[in-house]
Amino acid sequence: MAVVLLSIVVAMSKVVLISGASSGIGEATARVLAAAGHQVFLGARREDRLAALADEIGGAYAPLDVTSRESFQSFVDAAVERYGRVDVLVNNAGVMPLSLMSSLKLDEWDRMVDVNIKGVLNGIGAVLPRFTDGGHVVNVASIAAHMVMPTAAVYCATKYAVWALSEGLRQESENLRVTVISPGVTESELADTITEEFSASMMEDFRKVAIPASAIGDAIAYAISQPESVDVNEIVVRPTAQR
Ligand SMILES: NC(=O)c1ccc[n+]([C@@H]2O[C@H](COP(=O)([O-])OP(=O)(O)OC[C@H]3O[C@@H](n4cnc5c(N)ncnc54)[C@H](OP(=O)(O)O)[C@@H]3O)[C@@H](O)[C@H]2O)c1
Repeated sequence: MAVVLLSIVVAMSKVVLISGASSGIGEATARVLAAAGHQVFLGARREDRLAALADEIGGAYAPLDVTSRESFQSFVDAAVERYGRVDVLVNNAGVMPLSLMSSLKLDEWDRMVDVNIKGVLNGIGAVLPRFTDGGHVVNVASIAAHMVMPTAAVYCATKYAVWALSEGLRQESENLRVTVISPGVTESELADTITEEFSASMMEDFRKVAIPASAIGDAIAYAISQPESVDVNEIVVRPTAQR
């Protein structure tokens, strides 16, 4: 009986790669998924944080800069070398240096495009050839994939792009599951990337109702746990108090 139960648990356990696992939603998702019995492989640039988290929750990690195609390729290769396969990629890494467009923070626009759009594409490009039985791409977009706000024009554009890429990928694939997770305001370090004072103080007020990052991890765990024939296309999770 114990052997049967163990083999069911092993069959349900997935190898899940998570980008941006060194803080916020990525870190919380790693905790939720590891607690649910999945094998998590963590990626980000701050390796000290990944090492501590992997040690604590029993996962593994490799350095990852999502803006580099080569880095994402090596990250996926390292996961396959360790676990023999990849079942799920959570494209979670993102930055949000909000500002008015008239402030002309062109480098920050570039960084959002590089991390939030190209980073997701690099992940998809690296992982698709490595999926064997179907596979599952979970892209973390945002409520900013559905609405545009002042100071968030470029950020919203990147998240609309993530939504469009996900939907296109889903329509093209018969046995690949694609899920968009669109969080509302969530506890994390995301607002730390804002350099414009006006936007930073606006965000401070906006973020007062933030929900714990584990709420997003729970939504990702739900999507992953569905039967292979069920593709949860999108989940929007936001604070009850958020307008
Ligand atoms: N928190 C919210 O309210 C909210 C709402 C909607 C959507 N989101 C989305 O949720 C995702 C996670 O953000 P978060 O809120 O958890 O913020 P966070 O705490 O700042 O986490 C961002 C993660 O992205 C990683 N990252 C940034 N640039 C990277 C790069 N070039 N290569 C690899 N990793 C990189 C960071 O790791 P390193 O710096 O160590 O590389 C970090 O682990 C983002 O896509 C964000 O847009 C968040």
